[in-house]
Amino acid sequence: MMSAPAPLAGDLMPTTRWICVPVFSLFAATATAVDSPTPAPVPARQSELARLLRDDCGACHGMTLQGGLGSPLTAAALADKPRDGLVATVLQGRPGTAMPPWQPFMTQDEARWLIEKLQSGHVPAVPKP
Ligand code: HEC
Repeated sequence: MMSAPAPLAGDLMPTTRWICVPVFSLFAATATAVDSPTPAPVPARQSELARLLRDDCGACHGMTLQGGLGSPLTAAALADKPRDGLVATVLQGRPGTAMPPWQPFMTQDEARWLIEKLQSGHVPAVPKP
């Protein structure tokens, strides 16, 4: 005798998930709006910025960002500094010092994303070639 075909219960799962996703995203959006409104760049751009940070910023601030010609960009060094001021320094540079403006190479959101990463000590990883 043949056994009855499997019930359709398995098909209900994806439906449930689709209902959950928008609800969850709403929560996430609310949480980030309060905390950190900066949209993260797309992954490919994150990799480019990680490379820029290591190769270009690192040329002055040190490959491990502990400082060199430029001041250290470690979480400890930046933690207490106002974020807006640091973002402005990245975009406009600091006149009278070697710190150049990076406005031609990144958007305000990207500069803010980088500063958030540096201040939290989560330096974006450079992907292996
Ligand atoms: C040509 C050298 C040079 C390069 C390249 C450079 N910087 Fe700087 N940067 C400096 C110097 C020098 C200072 C310190 C200026 C001063 O004395 O106030 C500085 C200051 C800063 C500050 C302020 C730090 C603080 O404690 O107030 C930030 C943030 C910063 N740089 C980020 C970056 C980032 C991000 C990049 C790459 C996109 C970068 N810098 C590339 C030389 C450089």
